[in-house]
Amino acid sequence: MTERLIPEFDAGRRAAFGRTPMTYAHRLLDTGLFGDDRLAAQLERHPAELFDINIFHYDADDQALLQTGTKGDRPGAALLEAVKAGRVWIQMRRIQDHWPELGAAMKRVFAELSEQVPGFRPVQVTGQLIPSAPQAKVPFHADPPGVTLFHLRGEKRIWIYPVDEAHMPSRSMENIVMEQQTEDLPYRREMDAAAEVFDLTPGMAVAWPLHAPHRIENLGSFNVSLSCDYQTWTSRITNGAHFANGVLRRWGAPVLPADRAPMAARAALWGASTALRRMGLVKTRLESYERAFELGDAPPPPDKGLIAPLAMR
Ligand SMILES: [Fe+2]
Repeated sequence: MTERLIPEFDAGRRAAFGRTPMTYAHRLLDTGLFGDDRLAAQLERHPAELFDINIFHYDADDQALLQTGTKGDRPGAALLEAVKAGRVWIQMRRIQDHWPELGAAMKRVFAELSEQVPGFRPVQVTGQLIPSAPQAKVPFHADPPGVTLFHLRGEKRIWIYPVDEAHMPSRSMENIVMEQQTEDLPYRREMDAAAEVFDLTPGMAVAWPLHAPHRIENLGSFNVSLSCDYQTWTSRITNGAHFANGVLRRWGAPVLPADRAPMAARAALWGASTALRRMGLVKTRLESYERAFELGDAPPPPDKGLIAPLAMR
């Protein structure tokens, strides 16, 4: 297989990748990896501790709560049937380490992206393979690393919002990088007016700027996507600056929002953050949550094991 996995970008896409929300084409489906049999086999063999199994519930204000599940030990085909049947959303983390053929394809994809996008030099890439049910929705959230998502099966709609104080308050990203709970990600339905909306079909990929909040709804079909997180020096420094700002804010010091501060100021804050992290001033509040169900069981009643969602990662 010598053909490119990412067809050549035009000048517009070269300039837009990672800077503005955009879609592009990919040829990961040519690898033949994503049929039911291969997916079922991976569901069965992927380590249980690298599974996130979630069902989201939405209240009248569209604020989300989630229940988490465990993989259990049903055979792969039964696990796949369970995903196809309901509202569950699953991610298999660190897929590149546990599915070597897919890991190799990811390497090629990122080499080809680096070739075409000026200055794009990710220092770390990790993949989540995400099978999700026809009725699954992922609530409004933001991810600390850069993300690009390769859509593989089914249809879904993604809303991508601006990275500004109205949609992604600095205080929220500070809490996310400090691993504090972020139940206050302030989604309101009227924000959709500011979103860019894309309908994704197999063979499409989507990218957005660092920390752009987004939400996703499956459009009635079983979906499979590969979400790739990447760190660049810019994302590392910006997240470090958010961490330092979060500490400064607790101390009552004035802060300049890290996503909008000049790079030199971000770099200084990042330097401070490495020392602050070593000092252990912030205790993570991410605990191991109660698992409310096992994949393949009937869904639990929506008042059992509910927690506010954290940033997806
Ligand atoms: Fe995300």
